[in-house]
Amino acid sequence: MTEHLYNKYVQHMTLEEKIAQLLQLAAPFYDEPGDDSEITGPMEELGIDSNTKRAAGSVLGIAGAEKMMAVQKEHLAGNRLGIPLLFMADIVHGFKTIFPIPLAIGCSWDLKLAEQSAEIAAREAAVSGLHVTFAPMVDLVRDARWGRVMESTGEDTYLNAEFGKAFVQGFQGDNLKDDKSRVAACVKHFAAYGLAEGGRDYNTVDLSERQLREYYLPAYKAAIDAGAEMVMTSFNIVNGIPATANQRLMRGLLRDEWGFDGVVISDWAAIKEVIAHGAAEDDKEAAFKAIHSGVDIDMMTTSYVNHLPELVAEGLVDEAMIDEAVLRILKLKEKLGLFENPMRGADPELEQQIVFCQEHRQVSQRLAEKSSVLLKNENVLPLQADQRVALIGPFADSGDILGWWSWTGSKETAVKLGESMQKVSGDPGNVVIAKGCGIDTLSESDLAEALDAASAAEVIVLALGEASDMSGEGGSRSDIRLPEAQLELVREMKKLGKPLAVVLFNGRPLDLHGIFDVADAVLEAWFPGSEGGAALADILYGKVNPSGRLSMSFPYSVGQIPVYYNAYSTGRPKPEEETDNRYISQYIDIPNEPLLPFGFGLSYTTFAYADFSLSSDTMTATRPLEAKVTVTNTGSQAGTETVQLYIRDMSGETVRPVKELKDFRQVQLSPGESREVVFHIEESQLCYHHSDLSYTSDPGRFTVYVGASSRDTQSAMFRLV
Ligand code: IFM
Repeated sequence: MTEHLYNKYVQHMTLEEKIAQLLQLAAPFYDEPGDDSEITGPMEELGIDSNTKRAAGSVLGIAGAEKMMAVQKEHLAGNRLGIPLLFMADIVHGFKTIFPIPLAIGCSWDLKLAEQSAEIAAREAAVSGLHVTFAPMVDLVRDARWGRVMESTGEDTYLNAEFGKAFVQGFQGDNLKDDKSRVAACVKHFAAYGLAEGGRDYNTVDLSERQLREYYLPAYKAAIDAGAEMVMTSFNIVNGIPATANQRLMRGLLRDEWGFDGVVISDWAAIKEVIAHGAAEDDKEAAFKAIHSGVDIDMMTTSYVNHLPELVAEGLVDEAMIDEAVLRILKLKEKLGLFENPMRGADPELEQQIVFCQEHRQVSQRLAEKSSVLLKNENVLPLQADQRVALIGPFADSGDILGWWSWTGSKETAVKLGESMQKVSGDPGNVVIAKGCGIDTLSESDLAEALDAASAAEVIVLALGEASDMSGEGGSRSDIRLPEAQLELVREMKKLGKPLAVVLFNGRPLDLHGIFDVADAVLEAWFPGSEGGAALADILYGKVNPSGRLSMSFPYSVGQIPVYYNAYSTGRPKPEEETDNRYISQYIDIPNEPLLPFGFGLSYTTFAYADFSLSSDTMTATRPLEAKVTVTNTGSQAGTETVQLYIRDMSGETVRPVKELKDFRQVQLSPGESREVVFHIEESQLCYHHSDLSYTSDPGRFTVYVGASSRDTQSAMFRLV
């Protein structure tokens, strides 16, 4: 299939030219002085010569149609065989139209809207000259200390896989060659990066093969099965061997077992970092290990360029292996139509028209509305339009609401909460804005101004959170409470004895002590993206009924971490009723349960579940079951409920989680309206990896749970025979 590419290009390339195809340089290597570009890793003087640069295969972090076209033109003029550059970048949750962070999108449980957000991100990126996005990130996350949880859709294997597929479909569409408004997707970070010990970025990952396959790999696999063209290695070790040099993982599992034939790229400098890990003596050994592991592109080091020639000369690397890597890269270029049209979708005029256009921004707003999660509400929200509101806090008037990985977006054009609340209330005078404090500073004058504003108000709304650089890559925290300055502000405001609502902007589940126990209402906004303020104002004033459900648990405190709903039981599980028995699996100072569990979220209306039934109490491989439940909107507002289906295998060959999400449905219901929701349960949903890694089901008893969250469920039993 690649013979024509071999004949046309590879056989005419020198070894140096082939190896240069495997090099990816960052934008600064192509920049005019003063250009803005994306730097997401250590910048080093790589010492490459102009010949190598002219022969390089891809570039990272250049965006803007004119700039891209100029770089491509210059590159082609200097490239002996006329092989175009591939332009790649991190377009993770939007290009200029920034969508909520992926963790927030996870809380929308809205796969269609997630797909649409990726489609729009692709459209804006492609018209600005990009060909590949380093997304989706589908790492399973269970440790809120890790800054990169903001980039994942959460703690559930099934939900992550569903979102992974939706993002890939949105980015790539069905035909990359004909549809120049799409970009190729690069699923990352392979593998299990989310399990970094202690939540410290880049840290050790060690887990059993069974756990890896059962919980961590399915989302990557789903994205690959959905057609993702590329895979990025992770920075971490996987069971003792850095992923980037892990032959068993990358070549054995990804390529041989799964049959992945697309391009594998290292993360930034990850080949060289094999030395720091202690798995290579020098750069040459690192290059040797990475190429043998099937890593095609070396992002931002010269390990390949400097050492593959001698490795080939010494017979330690077969040139055919390099040819294969080059062919995979050329094949991707061909798939994208770059040989016919190296500028592909780049179009400066269209770029002006569609990037950050109204239509895209509306979708971003809708997704922000669906991603926000109402965590608590004791008769404060929604606000009344004529209420006198004091909006106080570092996010009251801030554009820092885009989140990490929004390098192409603009905080200046982000719709702020304060201005939106003034607009929605109908009278700007009804909403008085005060800063109150900085992210981690509290001055007497700011506090005095806030107290004045709050004293004159009927209700206080505090807009609090983490600055966007407190999460994201390199954003690990050991203490996941809000900074003390903000907690002090909350205490001062509480003293006024007025209704108090908190809106939170953050990139991870927080320890909410000092917030949740103090405020009357808490709305989790995450980093809601370009239109965040407008979406939140509509929720706060009841024009939109919140419907987000957590896709990652909020720990009771940091000492519980990792805490996730789909854990195993122990031999001494904690009983529901009080007990003096010390010898059970528990903390003696805090609950076992997270403060807020997976799947949880409130609404301005209420929903009741009734008539839960299974079509039979036995199931066979050929006779699936139906689970039915009737959901009724028992409140006075229309609302969306996410009906969740969980299953537990009561006696597995290896122990099974106490609950596992298997399916869900979103239903919109008017006040008083009921809907019967029907789930089909098949034997394939009961399969899991056994101790010998076989993927099968066990006959025996299963419990099915249906409900509004992983904690709030009704159950029934069946037997697989
Ligand atoms: O794509 C990213 C990756 O997620 C983290 N390191 C840098 C890469 C390129 O920017």
